[in-house]
Amino acid sequence: MVTILGIESSCDDTSAAVIRDGLLLSNAIASQKVHEEYGGVVPELASRAHQQNIVPVVDAAIKRAGIDKSEISAIAFTRGPGLIGSLLVGTSFAKGLSLGLRVPMVEVNHLHGHVLSHFVRQHPDDEVPRFPYLCLLISGGNSQIIMVRNYNDMQMLGQTIDDAAGEAFDKCAKVMGLPYPGGPHIDRLAAEGDAHRFNFAKPHIPGLDYSFSGLKTSFLYTLRDAIKSDPDFVENNKADLAASLQRTIIEILLDKLKLAVKQTGATQLAIGGGVSANSGVRKAVADFCAERGIKAFIPERAFTTDNAAMVAMAGYFKYLDKEFCPYDAVPYARVSI
Ligand code: KG4
Repeated sequence: MVTILGIESSCDDTSAAVIRDGLLLSNAIASQKVHEEYGGVVPELASRAHQQNIVPVVDAAIKRAGIDKSEISAIAFTRGPGLIGSLLVGTSFAKGLSLGLRVPMVEVNHLHGHVLSHFVRQHPDDEVPRFPYLCLLISGGNSQIIMVRNYNDMQMLGQTIDDAAGEAFDKCAKVMGLPYPGGPHIDRLAAEGDAHRFNFAKPHIPGLDYSFSGLKTSFLYTLRDAIKSDPDFVENNKADLAASLQRTIIEILLDKLKLAVKQTGATQLAIGGGVSANSGVRKAVADFCAERGIKAFIPERAFTTDNAAMVAMAGYFKYLDKEFCPYDAVPYARVSI
């Protein structure tokens, strides 16, 4: 029996989870409200909040799993990429607990965690992807198309050359005066709006790379010009602006995804990361896959944003391969797949 405690602290969510033989026993998350008034994550405040949250969150994960800490086989933690101060809290905690419990540590690349989140099973008969599969990873910091050949063998086929999809949602939402993070607010407003009312610029980037900064500029200019003649333009057109923005982001995402499926002949497609919680993105991917006879893996909303369940899962596979981490390991802010 292998029991992994996972710890995630790469950005502004402190999370701990317990996985036993690949099955999820618990997943506790403490989100940080402190950033809301600043319109974005403030790194130093995030580190301090992680310090306050980590003990109660780990404690809650162990209690909810119904296990004793002596049953833990290894501790998996996110080593990067992310905010260095935040990562330092999780990494240091993992080291201390690992020494105290005399169990090994396993380091996890946060992006691998998102990709492997589809292997987190809550019931033994939950379906998981078969290798190889294509994964669209879309979050606040990443927009990537990845070919997943094995647990530890992933190839990035394309990625954003500027902003990530989540940033496009958040930055456009910010100029509309919506709270941070704006993605969920755009999603909610878009449900009531006319998605074809406004047209925004779409990028012409060759290959499988993404770009979202042109869309952001085009959105900004549309608002700036319209506000000149109608100061209440944004207020009066919120839903249509949100729906048109969301449609454009989905079209950009899907264009490259379709190309990737064509180029690779993939028969399974998974999505992950915060933006995969978006209703429009979920529907567009599900429709595209149904049309082409491709098996779609769309995560439960709870597993789209940062969570330790995916970290524990990625750590479980490494544990099976006996890939342990030394005590002098330090976090890293940037790393690729
Ligand atoms: O993966 P994630 O939790 O962490 C970061 O990479 O930071 O992703 C957060 C991103 C934010 O940009 C947020 O606006 C976006 O995911 N997001 C959404 C939705 N829920 C979260 N974007 C659009 N629609 C949503 N429903």
